Amino acid sequence: MWRASIITIFPELFPGPLGASIAGKALAAGAWSLDVADIRSFATDKHRTVDDTPAGGGPGMVMKADVLARAIDATATDARPRLLLSPRGAPLTQARVETLAGKAGVILVCGRFEGVDERVIAARSLEEVSIGDYVLAGGELAAMVLIDACVRLLPGVMGAAASGTEESFADGLLEYPQFTRPQLWEGRPIPEVLLSGDHGKIAQWRRAEAERLTRERRPDLWAAFTRRFRGGSHSG
Ligand SMILES: C[S@@+](CC[C@H](N)C(=O)[O-])C[C@H]1O[C@@H](n2cnc3c(N)ncnc32)[C@H](O)[C@@H]1O
Repeated sequence: MWRASIITIFPELFPGPLGASIAGKALAAGAWSLDVADIRSFATDKHRTVDDTPAGGGPGMVMKADVLARAIDATATDARPRLLLSPRGAPLTQARVETLAGKAGVILVCGRFEGVDERVIAARSLEEVSIGDYVLAGGELAAMVLIDACVRLLPGVMGAAASGTEESFADGLLEYPQFTRPQLWEGRPIPEVLLSGDHGKIAQWRRAEAERLTRERRPDLWAAFTRRFRGGSHSG
């Protein structure tokens, strides 16, 4: 079973949104499991201190290496990837999510304050992963984002398996536009081709739209896509 272990000073935040909808149903059905370690329970003083002032001065507090390392050691007793959620990390991509979903699970360390003592990152071989170029107050929401993205890819979790293979990023493109009934809404019709029943034409239209949207909205993805398929069959 795919297992997510969270290391945090806010264990009460979990499962949070992961307890509802697709992830929640999969959790209840035993498709994945979640355990949460409270970093404070690895502190040794009576105030359960997990942070201290930054060496060299400056604002905020830093998570202590010794306390965090004890929490990691108690949790990371197997070979799952050990990830530290961090704005300095490699940006999370759908390709990485697919790789992580295919492994035994993840161990996720959630930072708080100004971050964690650099030495624990090196000593416990933590790989830094970012969910985007913005700064959150803590790693917990980022951990939930990563888990949500992985869990929906686990075998049997999504209703229709195809919805995972055709959606945004699956082949380097954004997804084509979706429509559903009514056929005419506020004077806007569903594109004729989608009602034609011609599966070849529908696939062609969707592919062209996916390419158009990617070209218009994400020149970075489009450049990578055209590099990969240079000389290939794309229409743009
Ligand atoms: C206030 S942030 C620390 C930011 C840090 N001082 C910096 O400038 O890089 C506190 C914690 O939130 C989490 N965090 C913030 N932004 C994140 C992001 N974009 N992706 C993943 N985790 C993030 C990390 O765990 C981080 O240690």
